[in-house]
Amino acid sequence: MQSLRIERCAALPEPHWSQLVEQSLLSGTGYRSSLDLLPASRRARVEARRASAREGRVHHCFAAWEGSSFVGGSVTWENRPAHLYMQMSAVLPSHRRRGVYSTLVQDVVAWAREQGFVEISSLHVATNNPVLIAKLSLGFQLTGMRLDPEFGTLVSLALPLDPSRDALRRFRSGERREPPQ
Ligand SMILES: CC(C)(COP(=O)(O)OP(=O)(O)OC[C@H]1O[C@@H](n2cnc3c(N)ncnc32)[C@H](O)[C@@H]1OP(=O)(O)O)[C@@H](O)C(=O)NCCC(=O)NCCS
Repeated sequence: MQSLRIERCAALPEPHWSQLVEQSLLSGTGYRSSLDLLPASRRARVEARRASAREGRVHHCFAAWEGSSFVGGSVTWENRPAHLYMQMSAVLPSHRRRGVYSTLVQDVVAWAREQGFVEISSLHVATNNPVLIAKLSLGFQLTGMRLDPEFGTLVSLALPLDPSRDALRRFRSGERREPPQ
């Protein structure tokens, strides 16, 4: 594999990103937009609310390049003050199991730390072992499970970006008996 380069950008290259998302995350999965089930009048109002909630949201994207070829990417945004949410990531099927995603996540983590974020979080379909194993290997912790009407059973992961937050969560989880001082 040629050397891998990670670039931070405002948006991932199109149409490559949309095609990869469609192929890897939407088609053939159980995803069902709840909007499809709404009557037209209600749907328009919900779409308007969603659009206004998205206004002003700043995405921080990370693109993985091999030479001039886009091979994968991650989209993130600040979903709470100082919390970075990794919304979506994918790597080309031909380039998987070569460390592309791990390199992407490590770049996201280094950038988030440098920017002063306290935590990085994400949600994943509970059976998506590739992404869960990759993230747990990089120090992410399991923080919850929920039933989402659109995506199904999701688990949440988080990576605390400072030792005191890490120690506090380990105490809260019951792993540690003593609270951090
Ligand atoms: C999840 C995904 C991004 C991982 O990308 P990747 O570049 O292949 O991941 P890496 O090569 O960095 O893998 C890191 C580690 O994760 C684990 N892992 C990755 N893919 C795995 C698989 N299919 N099965 C088991 N473990 C896996 C391994 O421990 C791997 O290390 P190793 O190859 O040294 O054993 C990729 O499989 C993908 O694009 N999937 C479809 C989209 C998706 O599910 N995105 C996540 C939801 S937002």
